[in-house]
Amino acid sequence: MKYVIGNWKSNKSGQETQEWFQAFQKLSVQGKIKSDKVEAVVCLPYVFLPQTRWFRDQNKLALKLGGQDVSAYPNGAYTGEVSAIQLVESAEYVIIGHSERRKYFNEDDKLLSQKVLRAKEANLKVIYCVPDENTVIPAGADIVAYEPVWAIGTGKTDTPENADRVAAAIRSKYKTNILIYGGSVTPENIKGFITTPHIDGVLPGGASLDPVKFWEMMVNAASI
Ligand code: PGA
Repeated sequence: MKYVIGNWKSNKSGQETQEWFQAFQKLSVQGKIKSDKVEAVVCLPYVFLPQTRWFRDQNKLALKLGGQDVSAYPNGAYTGEVSAIQLVESAEYVIIGHSERRKYFNEDDKLLSQKVLRAKEANLKVIYCVPDENTVIPAGADIVAYEPVWAIGTGKTDTPENADRVAAAIRSKYKTNILIYGGSVTPENIKGFITTPHIDGVLPGGASLDPVKFWEMMVNAASI
């Protein structure tokens, strides 16, 4: 099984979100991808998840949904937070520890491990991002994403060889079944990463904003 997990970050309006999913639906009607070949996930801003979940279920799209963050706290008096219990109503996955959360919101290992605990209590699948092989990975991460900071949104990818080396190093320290690479992944370069021995998938940001590119990445992943 290969994984293509899109991270929209803080992009798109409600209308644009609807258009993306309508376009995705057309693509998936025209060209079928075997669901045992690719697990496709799109991680959206919280506010778009309920409407998208409804559309996904109505149209039986072979696509899972994810959040991009989650509260370290349960339900309660935590103004502005979205709890894992709330998130799981409209998502199956959640990204925790993205480098942008670490950088702009000062999220540290302690806070991130609390977030993983809350997510697991609510039965969310955790996609845990690390910038290198030396970063702590809390128990409970279902998917580990290696994302070198300098490759994110820059158009400069790591080489498949080095990404595979880091993936192998992470696997030697942490028993993870699923390990993916992120950082400027496109339909053109995806195969280089997912054909390496230690990488099972990708976490595209920019390229996931275009439904055609996202679909092409799924097609390329299914062809391996
Ligand atoms: P990018 O983002 O594909 O735009 O580099 C990847 C990510 O931040 O997850």
